[in-house]
Amino acid sequence: MLYSQHYLQSLSNRDAFWAEQAKQLAWFTPPSTIYHQHDENHYTWFPDGVTNMSYLCLDYHLEQGRGHQTAIAYDSPVTGTAQLITYQSLWQSVQSLAGALQQLGVQQGDTVIIYMPMVPEAVMAMLACARLGAIHSVVFGGFAPHELALRINDAQPKVLISASYGMEGNKQIHYKPLVKAAIEEAEQKPDHCIYFLREGHNDVLDGPNEHDFYTLLHRGPQTTYVPVPSTHPLYILYTSGTTGTPKGIVRDTGGYATALKYSMNAVYNTQPGDVFWAASDVGWVVGHSYMVYGPLLHGCTSILYEGKPVGTPDAGAFWRIIDRYGVNTLFTAPTAIRAIRKEDESGALRQPSELPSLRAVFLAGERCDPATLVWLQNALQRPVIDHWWQTESGWPMLSVPLTPRPYAVKPGSAGLPVCGFDIQVIDEEGVMKPHHSEGLVVVKLPLPPGCLSGLWRNEDRYIREYLAPFKGYYLTGDGGYLDEEGYCFIMGRVDDVINVSGHRLSTGEMEEWVATHPAVAECAVVGIHDALRGQRPVALVVLKDGADTSSAERIEADIIQLIRNKIGAIAFLKNVYVVKRLPKTRSGKILRKSIRSIIDGVPHTIPSTIDDPATLHEISALFAPKLPE
Ligand code: COA
Ligand code: AMP
Repeated sequence: MLYSQHYLQSLSNRDAFWAEQAKQLAWFTPPSTIYHQHDENHYTWFPDGVTNMSYLCLDYHLEQGRGHQTAIAYDSPVTGTAQLITYQSLWQSVQSLAGALQQLGVQQGDTVIIYMPMVPEAVMAMLACARLGAIHSVVFGGFAPHELALRINDAQPKVLISASYGMEGNKQIHYKPLVKAAIEEAEQKPDHCIYFLREGHNDVLDGPNEHDFYTLLHRGPQTTYVPVPSTHPLYILYTSGTTGTPKGIVRDTGGYATALKYSMNAVYNTQPGDVFWAASDVGWVVGHSYMVYGPLLHGCTSILYEGKPVGTPDAGAFWRIIDRYGVNTLFTAPTAIRAIRKEDESGALRQPSELPSLRAVFLAGERCDPATLVWLQNALQRPVIDHWWQTESGWPMLSVPLTPRPYAVKPGSAGLPVCGFDIQVIDEEGVMKPHHSEGLVVVKLPLPPGCLSGLWRNEDRYIREYLAPFKGYYLTGDGGYLDEEGYCFIMGRVDDVINVSGHRLSTGEMEEWVATHPAVAECAVVGIHDALRGQRPVALVVLKDGADTSSAERIEADIIQLIRNKIGAIAFLKNVYVVKRLPKTRSGKILRKSIRSIIDGVPHTIPSTIDDPATLHEISALFAPKLPE
């Protein structure tokens, strides 16, 4: 069936469409109700279905005779390790780890935080939680202790699973001191901490509440899966909002499994047995959906790569991995491709067009500039697809269909709506925008299976930020436009969220921290264009009366360090400028958009509501010389 027919069916005959997709899973109790609307803001998918994600990803494949196939191919150029883990062996480890967690008191509905680098043990931990019906929350290893503490307080985990160290490029990052600092700061303390002690570590486990991952695993009794309702939360994944409090996106089990299984074929054009590589991190949604659950549900081999696109050891790393494991589908962020292109524009390290196994590359995480997309298309001579989604959606909302025939790719566009997503562009009053006219990107409710079912313990914020602004619609937070063929162009966030090297961060949160500096009276943090990273933050600060202006340089350095300590080095705040005043409206609102436009050097009109136009001229004068790269 053509994409257009399939898509229309997904909206006009919604329940039949998703009933058909749900049949692709081996439910313990297949759902008899496909969709249930509770009230205007709440609905559930497959409410009476019973399943278990760990069963679907592991046991089911053993039953189908796939036990000998590689489930996870772990490749770590930074530690010189490579390991092929079969479905059988992964199942064995997950069973024992689940048993060990159970012995520590973890039960269905309990929460477990996983703060780990890119190692197979992180995947085992996720699947072991899922096996018990425990709700995991993976925290990206690049976050500083304070961010981990916030998540501990909110998720209230019974157990925290971590590692002795992670490799960041070629440097070791020791996790145990970070975990300890986070637990010290947190009001809620986990009952137990489990550490995967990596080769060459020098950590000592202190006390009865700290455990060695493999000692526990080897002692853990074999544990079978716990059947859970389809609506049972599989995980909480925290993501940046517009303030310093991250949002805990809650994902259900059965709807998510149905959506991922469907997408593996309908979006990514993969078959069971294929090799799928999402070059992301388990701490991000891409890692959850397409490094762990999607490929394993579909019986694929998933690549777990502990390294960078460049520097570990060079810009040929991606092509080598594709060759070594026969990767069929690569999923990465445009930033990674820009980094590779910067170092190896001509493809001298490996002619990418020679990669015989590779069928398509998918890009997401940030807007893909047309130049990067076209460069990769030319280098690979096969489909390169920019597709759009969010932590909240859990799987792609826009993409370019590859089956039954490939649709045209339009550089700059993230494609056509994926089945189930009714995507519209509206203005601030909720009126639909004409083609090519930029506005707010919204999705008509209900969202299809697989999307967020709410925010962890924060119902008010869920409704306030996503549903209340436009009744009957989910507000994505992105701006963009549609063309006459239905292609959507996502142009960037309309709120205080930025994307730095494919990492989603909050400028609002950075402002909150900058404002805590004793010399700062007020500040603005904006995301400016960055040729490699897509965006990066810049802070403008006004010092308090009486602050020693001769020490501006030291204050700037303090603020840079403050952000590294509180959020993490990934925030990449490298530029802080002391200014006399911030441009504001007459009602006192800081004109962040105007500041951004001035720094980016893009044309802008001075808002009529500005209090004092001279403030903008001062900023222009400051940034007339180009910012250092
Ligand atoms: N743990 C600890 N620190 C981390 C980290 C982690 N997991 N990830 C990044 N950092 C640190 C880096 O060491 C660096 O610190 P430094 O300022 O002390 O050098 C800082 O955070 C910035 O890191 P990064 O943004 O990764 O910059 P980089 O120059 O090291 O690498 C790229 C640039 C483009 C190669 C890299 O950002 C990249 O691969 N991006 C793609 C990201 C991606 O795939 N996202 C997927 C989302 S779908
Ligand atoms: P995250 O929740 O971390 O996945 O980040 C989601 C945000 O990244 C979206 O709201 C967009 O702003 C941005 N994003 C992701 N994919 C794309 C894309 N293909 N094009 C443009 N922006 C994207």
